[in-house]
Amino acid sequence: VRTRVAIVGAGPAGLLLSHLLHRDGIESIVIDNRSREDIEKTVRAGIIENVAVDLLVETGASDRVLTDGHRHEGIELQFHGESHRIDFQKLVGRAVYLYPQHEVLIDLLARRIADGGDIRFEHEALEVLDGQTEAPRVVGKDAAGQPFEIVADVVIGADGSRSVARTAVVGSMTGGYFREYPFAWFGILCEAPPSSEELIYANSENGFALISQRSDTVQRMYLQCDPEQDPNEWSDAQIWDSLQSRVAGRDLKEGNIFQRDVLRFRSFVAHKLQKGRVFLVGDAAHTVPPTGAKGMNLAVNDVRILHEGLLDLFAGKGTAGIDSYEERALHRIWRAQHFSWWMTSMLHSTPEASDFDRRRQLGELESVVSSTAGSTYLAEAYTGWPYAD
Ligand code: DHB
Repeated sequence: VRTRVAIVGAGPAGLLLSHLLHRDGIESIVIDNRSREDIEKTVRAGIIENVAVDLLVETGASDRVLTDGHRHEGIELQFHGESHRIDFQKLVGRAVYLYPQHEVLIDLLARRIADGGDIRFEHEALEVLDGQTEAPRVVGKDAAGQPFEIVADVVIGADGSRSVARTAVVGSMTGGYFREYPFAWFGILCEAPPSSEELIYANSENGFALISQRSDTVQRMYLQCDPEQDPNEWSDAQIWDSLQSRVAGRDLKEGNIFQRDVLRFRSFVAHKLQKGRVFLVGDAAHTVPPTGAKGMNLAVNDVRILHEGLLDLFAGKGTAGIDSYEERALHRIWRAQHFSWWMTSMLHSTPEASDFDRRRQLGELESVVSSTAGSTYLAEAYTGWPYAD
């Protein structure tokens, strides 16, 4: 088949781009190797920046974020057995929304399908070809093992951290700036009421913990663990004891743990985000460690910028817009890479940390909470820099 924009990956980046293009009358085909049900159940982070919420709402991508999401005007930072509130509203006049990524996907899929969008589930992309021509192609196979080919004006790799499209842009699956961390998060979902009004980011002698939320009856919590940790090895009692020991002055409300997973920590930025008519967006272009929840927010920004360039291209205004995508997107990507790395480094303990490192880390946290400049930087980055470009 032939279309204007072939999008590999029905995650937040791919679906949002398809939605934005549709509003301008530009047709696209989105393929994903997962089923709709699998996509809608993928457990990911829960924090959406103020600017990304505005974009989702204003473009009709999600209205539920305002009604079913929860506005958070600050976070609690804990260290040295004490709690400090970072008041986003007071410091920068902005807030974030707690609204899990799979809810955004449910909204985007419903919107695309109601609008007659062409979303092909269980279609696996194998290769992106002819990126240097004006008719790039995606080849793959469907659920029945039948080969398919989509020829387009532009191909978008929105196919996540194990992107197939990346090879067409950087020459390999791994071509990029990369960093790994010697720890991971053990994540749980449990049936319990919230233990705190706001999210708690806790640096403790026993390692990091994050107390997040999902609803009045379901909570999401994470604790730092070894990357090789098998999530089924720990008993519920062990998980609760660890969480309780890392959070100061608060008795966490416990309940049935019904989901467990281990999240690896990686930082990655592909060497290039464009080659010819093939573009990388979202996790295909970059991965951040989870602390600070920048993943989906960066995807929204990539798509916002690339969408503008594509509009120019299809309006016959040339390629200047698409050719400036990489440079414009990287501006936010590297700031978010730094923020995610910084929050991660400041809050976790590493096996090799010396006594000096440990005290220096507490000094850093103290500098953030005791200085308006320090906490303002955290608030600015966490809530999301304005889309000034
Ligand atoms: C969540 C995840 C994060 O990485 C974070 O920084 C905050 C919240 C979450 O899943 O709720």
